[in-house]
Amino acid sequence: PSSDLDSEKQRAAMKAAEYVRDGMVVGLGTGSTSKHLIIALGERVRAGLRIHAVPTSHDTAALARQSGIPLIESDNAWMIDVAIDGADQVDPALNLVKGGGGALLKEKIVAAAAKRFIVMVDHTKLVPALGGSFPLPIEVVPFGWGSTARNIEHTSGGKAVLRERNGVVFQTEAGHVILDLHMPKIDDPATLEIELNQIPGIVETGLFIGRTSILIVGHAQGADVTLA
Ligand code: A5P
Repeated sequence: PSSDLDSEKQRAAMKAAEYVRDGMVVGLGTGSTSKHLIIALGERVRAGLRIHAVPTSHDTAALARQSGIPLIESDNAWMIDVAIDGADQVDPALNLVKGGGGALLKEKIVAAAAKRFIVMVDHTKLVPALGGSFPLPIEVVPFGWGSTARNIEHTSGGKAVLRERNGVVFQTEAGHVILDLHMPKIDDPATLEIELNQIPGIVETGLFIGRTSILIVGHAQGADVTLA
């Protein structure tokens, strides 16, 4: 049942929150697991913890504000001690697929700006190989998206589908669209990322290669921690 999964997410988030110490700048991820983290950090802030946060979406920013977590509003170079986020898939090398919620661009910028990147998931996110059941989100510029999709399909051998929500084309916070790339299995995610990044029109892919510092998987009793 989904409530068991949500408890796994919550236990992973509680464990991740333990890595946040007084004085830190924290990158806050997006999604249902990150929500648990923000609520947990908000409680600690009300109890006296002093942190500042960089949010990866408007939703995360809103929840952080409600929770009393001070946000960094400037885009000047951040000194992020730790970024903490969920993921859609995690492979045995701790490479990720992200972007199910469409926030992958800010999530990747924040992860890349952080000294450490902590990933929190429930057990269903662990996969032997990326791809398959979950399509790879790719953020692309709306101009010429059909031609970009065709190039993506030629490069990957997969099928690129324009993301819609309630019958309307999904728009990212940066005003781009998402192509969900269906591939039976991503054999070499690092090479695929490099190849996709050569295609004009692609802003960012949901592949997070070699970025994970710590993986936290929630289970029925607590959470397992794996260091990269
Ligand atoms: C948002 O764009 C995604 O990258 C999320 O991090 C991912 O979808 C995980 O979401 P949940 O925590 O809701 O599973």
